[in-house]
Amino acid sequence: MKKILTWVKPTWNWMHLWNYLWMYKPLIENSKWKEAYLFIADYHSLTSVHDKKILKRNKKRLLIEAFSLLPDDSDLIIFEQSKIKNINNISWIISSVTPYSMMLRAHAFKDSKAKNSEINMSVFNYPILMAADIISYDIDLVPVWKDQKQHLEFTRDIVSNFNKTYKTDIFKQPDAFIEKEVWVIPWTDWRKMSKSYDNFIWVFDDEKILKKKIMSIVTDGRPLESPKDPESCNVFALIKFFASQEKQDEIAAKYRAWNYWYWHAKLELLEIILEYFKNARKKYVKYEENFGLIEMKLKKSNEKMNKIVDKKYEDLMETIGL
Ligand code: TRP
Repeated sequence: MKKILTWVKPTWNWMHLWNYLWMYKPLIENSKWKEAYLFIADYHSLTSVHDKKILKRNKKRLLIEAFSLLPDDSDLIIFEQSKIKNINNISWIISSVTPYSMMLRAHAFKDSKAKNSEINMSVFNYPILMAADIISYDIDLVPVWKDQKQHLEFTRDIVSNFNKTYKTDIFKQPDAFIEKEVWVIPWTDWRKMSKSYDNFIWVFDDEKILKKKIMSIVTDGRPLESPKDPESCNVFALIKFFASQEKQDEIAAKYRAWNYWYWHAKLELLEIILEYFKNARKKYVKYEENFGLIEMKLKKSNEKMNKIVDKKYEDLMETIGL
């Protein structure tokens, strides 16, 4: 049994279906984890968000989404990074075994530097705090998309450097958790689903908007009377993530018959998505009206996580001689 950790970062003001598929779904649908955590990486958002109002709005929205998506009987713990008192202390301690040359290789830092004449130190130090986020709770697995893979490699390097330097095993090596099929989720126009392309779907959106987005998914131009291949279809690829096996087989058979149009498949996908997120959509409304419910839950989980990190920090201080 493994401990798994994922995150949402309030530089975004919502998460779309694609994020859901690779960050949330593996956590929510799996009972095989010993412990599952989701944290709001609010310190990390300071690399780019310097507006108090925007930060608060983003954070609130992401928290409402996270708590709505979470099934009621779930053991998944949602907490806030900035409420973990010792997280930055641990980050400082591990920075002493983090080579500068490694940090210079960070893709995120290099990209940011190429775009801006001046960048702030939080962009540079970002991977160290991220390592602290993972190793302070003895996490085994972190679901990653390609852009976070290097960060996880850095974390692993930091762990080996630290453990070797102090001849200890205080930090556990985390692994990247990669679900291959999620890496190639197609969307309306075969590009990666993203806000900048405006080809994303927000599962809490109004039904009408959801329908519009789904109807605009790009498919090939095969006419009604010709059989179609479900396996090469964008719409079917999404159906596969959310429908039961039985439903998938039923729809695949319709594709292969002659009188089924992509338009029909899109309507089925809409139904399937609405059904899959039915409870979450209801809860979203409830939490929007009563954010206090979330604040209460957060307080408890922040406390629980602080206890874990306080203990780690104490052991760490002992290990380094302070
Ligand atoms: N680097 C992640 C991002 O850019 C955010 C993040 C911060 C994170 N700490 C983490 C991810 C720990 C996984 C584990 O979105």
